[in-house]
Amino acid sequence: SLAPFLATLAAYLVGSLAFAVIVSRVMGLNDPRTFGSKNPGATNVLRSGSKPAAVITLLLDAMKGFVPVLLVRQYGKDYGLEDGTVAMVALAAFLGHLYPVFFRFQGGKGVATFIGAVFGIHWLLGIATGLTWLIIAFFFRYSSLASLVAALFAPVYFLMGDRIQWYAEKPVVAALFAMAGLLAWRHRENIQRLMRGNESKLGAKKG
Ligand code: G3P
Repeated sequence: SLAPFLATLAAYLVGSLAFAVIVSRVMGLNDPRTFGSKNPGATNVLRSGSKPAAVITLLLDAMKGFVPVLLVRQYGKDYGLEDGTVAMVALAAFLGHLYPVFFRFQGGKGVATFIGAVFGIHWLLGIATGLTWLIIAFFFRYSSLASLVAALFAPVYFLMGDRIQWYAEKPVVAALFAMAGLLAWRHRENIQRLMRGNESKLGAKKG
């Protein structure tokens, strides 16, 4: 059936909506690709000085991961979709954010979309991953460090959760590891800045 392909394509197209750019445009703010880290993501929108714009960007970018995964999990069975398609739509939405077809394939680093997808896979996994981000961000004040630690821990939490019966969802584990790896790759400049000690802290206006 075409259903798995169509679901994956739809997730990629939704993921391609770079909400940092769209929200900034709608709210009359500077394009996040022109200042700070130049990354189209909630962290960099925050550097424009607008907390509401950053929060809206975060929520909408997270929805891009959450909604496709939840829809496949809730209604997929009616169309013969299984865990393989859950994994595919999560990865497709994430790749849409990184390489958006509507924005010359120049997208973001995937943090919000990753956390959204993770919430869709299992709410407990979402809470654990989100809390990890918050705790690291609170103590170290680096968004990038919090994102890297949360992304690396998400697959580990998934493997630890025996209620989740991960062995039945091998494609989902693979997708989580793939997303965490790509997320770290997209943060390679942040990693260099963190090691050199010149990464911008949360709350600082300039990147
Ligand atoms: O949202 C991505 C975050 O982890 C880092 O963003 O703008 O500081 O590179 P940024």
